[in-house]
Amino acid sequence: MMIGLQRTTSGVLFCALFLISASCKSFAYDLEVNQTAFLKIDASPQSGRKIPDHLFGIFFEEINHAGAGGIWAELVSNRGFEAGGPNTPSNIDPWGIIGNETFINVLTDRSSCFNRNKVALRMEVLCDPVGCPDSGVGVYNPGYWGMNIEQGKTYKVVLHVMSSGSLNLSVSLTSSDGMQTLASNNIIASASQVSNWTKIEFQLESKGTNSNSRLQLTTNHKGVIWLDQVSVMPTDTYKGHGFRKELISMIEGIQPRFIRFPGGCFVEGEWLRNAFRWRESIGPWEERPGHFGDVWMYWTDDGLGYYEFLQLAEDLGAAPIWVFNNGISHQDEVATSSIAPFVKDVLDSIEFARGSTNSTWGSVRAAMGHPEPFELKYVAIGNEDCGKPNYRGNYLKFYDAIRNAYSDIKMISNCDGSSRPLDHPADLYDFHVYNSANTLFNMANQFDRTSRTGPKAFVSEYAVTGKDAGTGSLLAALAEAAFLIGLEKNSDAVEMASYAPLLVNTNDRRWNPDAIVFNSWQQYGTPSYWMQHFFKESSGATLLPATIQANSSVHVVASAIICRSSEDNSEYLQIKVVNFDNEPVNLMFSVSGLQNTVNSSGSKMTILTSSNVMDENSFQEPNKLKKQQKLLNKMTGHCRKLGNEEDKCGRKKMKMQWVPKKQTRASNIVPFAVDPSTSQHVNADEFLQFMLMGFVLFLLLTLEWFILTLQGFLRIMLVWVLLFMLIV
Ligand SMILES: *[C@@H]1O[C@H](CO)[C@@H](O)[C@H](O)[C@H]1NC(C)=O
Ligand SMILES: *[C@@H]1O[C@H](CO)[C@@H](O)[C@H](O)[C@H]1NC(C)=O
Ligand SMILES: *[C@@H]1O[C@H](CO)[C@@H](O)[C@H](O)[C@H]1NC(C)=O
Ligand SMILES: *[C@@H]1O[C@H](CO)[C@@H](O)[C@H](O)[C@H]1NC(C)=O
Ligand SMILES: *[C@@H]1O[C@H](CO)[C@@H](O)[C@H](O)[C@H]1NC(C)=O
Ligand SMILES: *[C@@H]1O[C@H](CO)[C@@H](O)[C@H](O)[C@H]1NC(C)=O
Ligand SMILES: *[C@@H]1O[C@H](CO)[C@@H](O)[C@H](O)[C@H]1NC(C)=O
Repeated sequence: MMIGLQRTTSGVLFCALFLISASCKSFAYDLEVNQTAFLKIDASPQSGRKIPDHLFGIFFEEINHAGAGGIWAELVSNRGFEAGGPNTPSNIDPWGIIGNETFINVLTDRSSCFNRNKVALRMEVLCDPVGCPDSGVGVYNPGYWGMNIEQGKTYKVVLHVMSSGSLNLSVSLTSSDGMQTLASNNIIASASQVSNWTKIEFQLESKGTNSNSRLQLTTNHKGVIWLDQVSVMPTDTYKGHGFRKELISMIEGIQPRFIRFPGGCFVEGEWLRNAFRWRESIGPWEERPGHFGDVWMYWTDDGLGYYEFLQLAEDLGAAPIWVFNNGISHQDEVATSSIAPFVKDVLDSIEFARGSTNSTWGSVRAAMGHPEPFELKYVAIGNEDCGKPNYRGNYLKFYDAIRNAYSDIKMISNCDGSSRPLDHPADLYDFHVYNSANTLFNMANQFDRTSRTGPKAFVSEYAVTGKDAGTGSLLAALAEAAFLIGLEKNSDAVEMASYAPLLVNTNDRRWNPDAIVFNSWQQYGTPSYWMQHFFKESSGATLLPATIQANSSVHVVASAIICRSSEDNSEYLQIKVVNFDNEPVNLMFSVSGLQNTVNSSGSKMTILTSSNVMDENSFQEPNKLKKQQKLLNKMTGHCRKLGNEEDKCGRKKMKMQWVPKKQTRASNIVPFAVDPSTSQHVNADEFLQFMLMGFVLFLLLTLEWFILTLQGFLRIMLVWVLLFMLIV
């Protein structure tokens, strides 16, 4: 750096913050904070270290109906009548019959035109227009605990039908009792038009809104009608690719840099025959056989398949991480000597994702509408199988074959390499943790002593579980935040991390807690979801050395980064702090060496807290706990000079008091900031001071400062002070 142009940042600071509480009783707050923590941040460029680009992402598992009846927008459940198994007649749940056996006989047979899913519905209507009930007879599908049909929205209906005679079939969206019709269309066809399987497609526009609707297929014409692969999709899906918009926009909200999919145990299966098989989940959706996930115990039609996951990753700007079955399930294993076909299958899956349109599987992808390759750079060889007898044998077969064919693909082992080296080659290793809040909080230091050479950690599943977590508590989120701050600081040993599970449909809660909670029409984030918002700028940012000095009884964890904001693309200093104690802590911090490339406007303070650590969000109060943001430079007031004093180095410093113009009670947090027009510069290495409330996750995005040119050379910056309080 050129002499004379050096940019200094001397943290200047001030305003010994005082809380002005006299005028309002509810502000009453014990200012005698017994503990003080000092946070020293070194923002000089030579001290920073780049955080991996994919540090924070998501883990999607088909659990809790996260996909089928979740992010995948298909409204019909068991659309191909395959869920009851291949032997007919079979159970048609959740389909139901309209009309009794006097009028209609419904069963399944194996007459489908689709070879991989032969089961179809056979509906024999015994009545005619005179004898049938007025509303007709037939079948209905309630979707996944009710279809959410909304007024003015359009729905694409696709079904396959065959009939013994002419057809007059009414297709309608109705209330759950069939009494209210929201949209309807009649399919009219001559006998010759539908004597063989015929695909019929049309759109329905809803006249009303009902979150507990169903699809009805009814007629009052005597004869036999076969139905198969009946689909209803909203036309308005995320980027037109079939995903439920409001759920994906919540996922977008945390800006995931990767998506690990499709499981989890879902990938393994309780038994191998029920594991996820990518090949059966691609191609035209009508031809996919679907499968029963025997770990989380439900059927999926696999409309959300391997291709759709890759598409979702691309649409989210997230790196896909394909977790494949390695020939091992919970109960059975393929011997390493017989693993070759499984290895070939996985190589084919990579060719499907990345191969040219001329390649065997790349051409299948192109035919599905994506000639460009997907950017698949990571694969995981199994899930949680390290201890299984055949793991290492099978692993090496997959590893060598993939390494030979694709030198750039990073492979993830299931064995924990955080405390001792792995006994096999890998680029990353999985690390899973589900534990109590205290344990996770203390695990902020988990990777401090992990080797910096060798494979990196992928903390692909973490969460506070058990009584500390309830169905998603603030306590859990705070401990997880401390854990993530630890991962951020150790991001030279940890390359990626994701919370688990991501989603839960409340009608089929298989795991507690989860980040995003939903039903057919509502959704909210748990505190653990909102906690992840505090880390969305971290990936690819610059980590600054930040050390806390405090008594051991103080449970405060902090980190500082220089990051590029996705909102305005400029650089900011971001400080995250968790106070895991019930008691407030005086937090003092100093920043040295900050560069003036860091944006000087738009200071924001964001907090996540509540009056009770066990508080949760709910459908009734979806935003009870949510990150709350303040633009500090919108606060007005002035600094009152209290006088000068000398510090122990003999430097002059100025004491000031912040006097806000008027107190607002817009929320339970009252921030205080210095008004730039009246603030003073002091050239001492001073601390900014905050009152850090008990049980809070706190993020300060930028320190607003302004730059003072002294003889055209020396820039001194910074003046900022904030204080906030909680009104109990
Ligand atoms: C500070 O310490 C005193 C005496 O030990 C105690 O009575 C008081 O509750 C403490 N206050 C806070 C805010 O921790
Ligand atoms: C079917 O319903 C009709 C009219 O509701 C009724 O008359 C008939 O007895 C019912 N038949 C059976 C077998 O339940
Ligand atoms: C089809 O059936 C409906 C009653 O369900 C009837 O109103 C309509 O006229 C029929 N259309 C034809 C072409 O038969
Ligand atoms: C019915 O259509 C299928 C193709 O969907 C065809 O293979 C079959 O030969 C057709 N059957 C008749 C009787 O036309
Ligand atoms: C596909 O093959 C054709 C002819 O062999 C060749 O010209 C073309 O470049 C290939 N395309 C790709 C994407 O490899
Ligand atoms: C730690 O606690 C002791 C005794 O309460 C106190 O004198 C000291 O200032 C505290 N240190 C810090 C850094 O808060
Ligand atoms: C700094 O941020 C402000 C507000 O977010 C923006 O308008 C401005 O362009 C940014 N300046 C630079 C130099 O990036």
